This record gives sequence, structure tokens and C-alpha cells, in this order.
Amino acid sequence: MMGGRRDGPLMRNASQSTVKSRILMAIATGISLGCVFAFLYPHGFFSSSAPTFHSRLTQVPSTKCESSEKLNELKTEYAAASIRNAELRQQVKELIEKLKLAEQGKDHAQKQVEALGKQHKAGSFGTVKGLKTNPTVIPDESVNPRLAKFLENVAVQRELIVALANWNVKDSLEIWFTSIKRVGIRNYLVVALDDKIAEFCESNDVPVYKRDPDEGIDSIGRAGTNHAVSGLKFRILREFLQLGYSVLLSDVDIVYLQNPFNYLYRDSDVESMTDGHNNMTAYGFDDVFDEPTMGWARYAHTIRLWVYNSGFFYIRPTIPSIELLDRVASRLAREPKSWDQAVFNEELFFPSHPGYEGIYAARRTMDFYLFMNSKVLFKTVRKDARLSKFKPVIIHVNYHPNKLERMKAIVEYYVNGNQDALKAFPDGSDW
Ligand SMILES: *[C@@H]1O[C@H](CO)[C@@H](O)[C@H](O)[C@H]1NC(C)=O
Repeated sequence: MMGGRRDGPLMRNASQSTVKSRILMAIATGISLGCVFAFLYPHGFFSSSAPTFHSRLTQVPSTKCESSEKLNELKTEYAAASIRNAELRQQVKELIEKLKLAEQGKDHAQKQVEALGKQHKAGSFGTVKGLKTNPTVIPDESVNPRLAKFLENVAVQRELIVALANWNVKDSLEIWFTSIKRVGIRNYLVVALDDKIAEFCESNDVPVYKRDPDEGIDSIGRAGTNHAVSGLKFRILREFLQLGYSVLLSDVDIVYLQNPFNYLYRDSDVESMTDGHNNMTAYGFDDVFDEPTMGWARYAHTIRLWVYNSGFFYIRPTIPSIELLDRVASRLAREPKSWDQAVFNEELFFPSHPGYEGIYAARRTMDFYLFMNSKVLFKTVRKDARLSKFKPVIIHVNYHPNKLERMKAIVEYYVNGNQDALKAFPDGSDW
């Protein structure tokens, strides 16, 4: 009956030889004691309490017993109960495991269904394409009815350019909206972070949205450091997305030369201009890391990409997009020393790993000649006979501190046709 238990032989010896007679005489007491023990040690009496059981039984005074069958019955019951207990525990453990797996599976399956709508068979070789375009959210006007009303008149096909501005960037903003008007873009909007810039926009017929002073986060906007405004940007953007609009978020140190809405793919959650300056840095490359001491395995391959520019990106109103904005905003709030562009890229690109769940947002890098940063312009394009003839969609003066002069020069070169307008500037800054 005890077969398979580690303490079986010990118990059998005890009952069969030296203490057998005494045990038999102790049954009356033993039965009641046993019942008490069965109650007190439901989780495996023999395994954890065998010594106690043994000593107690052997010390019970000799009295008349009923029968050895009772004892054997009792022991059988103990053993059976213990085994049942162990089996039950094992079953519960297995059930919990199964439940965990089922939950993981269910969660995964649900996400798939949400993303795909319905299940498909995989097509034949070379014809299979994963879904890149996530469905948009249902617009929720209750988030900000005033903004919702406002956007009905400004957006075109539920998309628009949005820039945040305070009085500090007034001069750049003027070049910015003048260039936008010049190419005939109607769907753009300035989110004014102070009254003066709001008045300035109004007096220039620029669509401007003033946030309510009691919207809490606005004191940041008026204080005006670049960093603080960056954090605010992601919070404000969320409302536009919740209202169901796609936003082309734009810094104000940008000159528009064509209508960007004619050059978007709209197939990704985030479609962004790059800080890269050639095919490799803009679109990604295999950067081989060399560790000669490893001998045969000295080369380790890495994936590299110049960061997305968080000052010019098109973001669609999807769940991954909104999750991205939330994550960036909360990290900027938690880590005041962090740089919004670094955080934006980390959240967008780092994959899930132990202890971390990454964003599953689809990304597209914009053409770096069409959506051009100022390094590409001043280091490459202006010196290249062919490239310098070609008109970009926008130019972002992100790589240079003397933004105003360079913005004006860009307008001179591309709008007024002054071929010398870009020549005086160094490639980089003079410090
Ligand atoms: C960069 O990529 C484009 C498009 O794939 C290609 O036409 C061009 O030749 C490439 N440029 C260089 C310098 O490799």
C-alpha cells in the first residue's frame, strides 16, 4: 500500500516488527489520534510528519485493541488521501499552466482578429503580404467638442498639418505659414500656446486653435522651453487622433515647397521624415561590428538606422499610434532630462523583450530628398548639379541653429530662383 512512497519501507518495518504489538494495542487511541492528524495534516501526513507519527504511536500505552484491519484501513485511507492530495495539487498546477497558455493564446488571437478582421489562408510563394495599415479608431467627439467643431472646417479628408507655437518662434512661424499659403495648402492649423501668437495668427488669417487655459498642461506651453513644448506636443496630438484625424505634425522651422499630402503613402501608423542623409542612414543598413579577439567570429552584424525626426511626421488615428503618443508623453514626464526625439524613436523601434512590451506600430521612412533635412540640403544637394534642380516637398532646418537665415535663403533659392542664395552658408554650424 505504501509502494512508491519514499517513507514506505520505514513505516512497514515499524508496523511489522518491533512495535507491531504495541501498535495493535494502541488502536483505540490511534484511530482517534489519526483522525485528528488527518484533519491537521491534509497535505501529506507521511511525507512531512512521519517521525511524529512514529514516536507518538510507539509511546501510546498498551490497551486492548479492536483489530489490525482498522489500522490498515486507516493507513490505506491516509495514503490514498495523500496521493489524492498530491494528484489534486498536480492537477491544479497543470490547470493553472493551461489557463495561462490559454489566456496568452486568446489574447494573441483576439489581437489578430482585431487587426485582420478575419482569418485567411496563406497564399502561394511570393504573394503573401502582411498587414501594415491598422484600422482607424472610431472618432470620439466628447474628448473635445470645441476642437471637433473647429476641425470640421479646417481638415481636408480628415487630415491636416498641425504645429504648436508660442511667441518665441514668431519669426519662423511667419516664414512657415507664408510658405504653406504659397503652395495652396488649406488644411493646416497652429495650436497657439500663448495669446500673442494667437493674435498674430488671427491677424494673418492663419487657422489658429487656442487651448482652454484650464486644460492644465498649458502652463508648460507658455513657459516655452523647447523641451517642455515637445512633451506637450504629444499630449495635444492625442486629442486630434481621438477625434479621428490624421495629423501631419510639423515644427515651424520648415519651409513648404509643395503640398505634402500629395506625397504621403498613408499605409503606416507613423510615416516620418528622417535625420538620415543617404540611402543607408535613412533607410537602414547592416553595420558590422568588428571584435578581432573573437577570431573566427570577429564580425557581429547590427541593424542601424538614423532616427526619425519627431518634428515632422504623419500619424494616423490608430490604437498603436495613440499608444505611442501616450508612452512618449508619459516617459517625457517621468524622465525630465530625456530628449523627446530619442524617446519617440526608442518607443517606436525597440522590440518586445523580457520585461518589456514594444509598440506594434507600422513605420514608413519618407523619401529623404522629398522631405529633406538641412544636412542633406547643405552638405549634398546644393553642391550637386542634378539634385539642386529638383524641388523637394519640404525642407526642415533641423540641423542648423541659424534657422531664420537659412529658411529665408531656402525661400530665395527655391521660390525666387536666386541660384546663389544657399552658397554663403557653411555645411554645418559655425558654433
Ligand atoms: C539610393 O536608392 C535609390 C532608390 O532605391 C537608388 O535609385 C539610388 O541609386 C540609390 N543611391 C545610391 C547613392 O546608392
